[in-house]
Amino acid sequence: MIYSNEDFNKKTILITGGAGFIGSNLAFYFQNNYPNAKIVVFDIFRSETLFSNGNLKSFGHYKNLIDFKGDIICGDLNNEADLSRLFNYKFDYIFHQAAISDTRVDDQKNIMQTNVNSFYDILEIAKKDNSAIIYASSAATYGNSPSPQTIGKESPNNAYGFSKYMMDQIAYDFSKKNQKMTIVGLRFFNVYGPREYYKEKTSSMVIQLGHQILDGKKPRLFKGSNKIMRDFINIEDVIQAKIKACKPKKNGTYNIGTGTPRSFLDITDILQIELNTNLNIEYFANPYKNYQMHTQANISSAIENLDFNPRISLEQGIKSYIPEIKLLHGKSFA
Ligand SMILES: NC(=O)c1ccc[n+]([C@@H]2O[C@H](COP(=O)([O-])OP(=O)(O)OC[C@H]3O[C@@H](n4cnc5c(N)ncnc54)[C@H](O)[C@@H]3O)[C@@H](O)[C@H]2O)c1
Repeated sequence: MIYSNEDFNKKTILITGGAGFIGSNLAFYFQNNYPNAKIVVFDIFRSETLFSNGNLKSFGHYKNLIDFKGDIICGDLNNEADLSRLFNYKFDYIFHQAAISDTRVDDQKNIMQTNVNSFYDILEIAKKDNSAIIYASSAATYGNSPSPQTIGKESPNNAYGFSKYMMDQIAYDFSKKNQKMTIVGLRFFNVYGPREYYKEKTSSMVIQLGHQILDGKKPRLFKGSNKIMRDFINIEDVIQAKIKACKPKKNGTYNIGTGTPRSFLDITDILQIELNTNLNIEYFANPYKNYQMHTQANISSAIENLDFNPRISLEQGIKSYIPEIKLLHGKSFA
């Protein structure tokens, strides 16, 4: 589906984090719909280095980009020489997704350098090229703020959420000083869908529970999961938001969710219907202290200023995702 009248053919488009979940889906949106667009992916890809929580430092994976025909630059946002390779282009659009996306990393220095410092550099590239810049913020900026989460009522409670909140403030200042530029931040809520598998333990519970069920194991949920609510949004609706953000009525930061919270138990029930199983659920104590218990995006400003219109219910999104969940079941992460 095409989400705007804008013709992206002959445009030069930078996608940072393009080997990751959201970035690679965006790369294929442009490749499939605008064969004459010049698409440049900048990503550090994965190496074998881990954070102290045991997760990889970066999740970019070549398998997300099989059949991609654009340019790839393997580079680190924190490395000036890598970033300088981007000076060989003149970008019409920059979609900045590259980040430490793992919300449970404690290495504050690394998060702030990667997510925040580099953002100044990316904004300068956008200014030099006069490109529209659409960057990824996050619902983690809200921490445990009460629902519905609304722009202006942030309260991050981890370093990741803080880094994204800082990016929003940097963008706001930059936008005030450069009023002719298009600068839009999108605060994604819980995104799920194809090409997230290589985020391993940080992928959505949709695919993780799907694989537990396909293993024939009881799906494992925190106690009280019928009351732990999240605003789950399908990757297709996230792509819609990104495309519509290229022509906003005004610059700003916008919530991107469905506006409808659903529980982790709902996910399990829908998966069991789609996979034709009837497994008992195994409940266990939630080990996390700082845990978002209820998220629900207030999307009124995104509807008004981006013409954002989330279309995909959790039932529809999971149903269409089942073939990929089955295909990847038991596959190695390598
Ligand atoms: N998926 C979600 O539910 C969600 C929710 C809120 C916000 N976000 C944000 O959206 C963006 C994309 O998220 P995603 O789910 O696709 O995550 P992802 O981890 O799959 O993608 C991030 C990409 O950034 C790359 N990267 C990491 N460090 C880098 C560095 N130093 N230099 C260059 N590249 C680097 C990784 O290799 C990876 O490909 C991120 O900024 C994330 O914080 C995602």
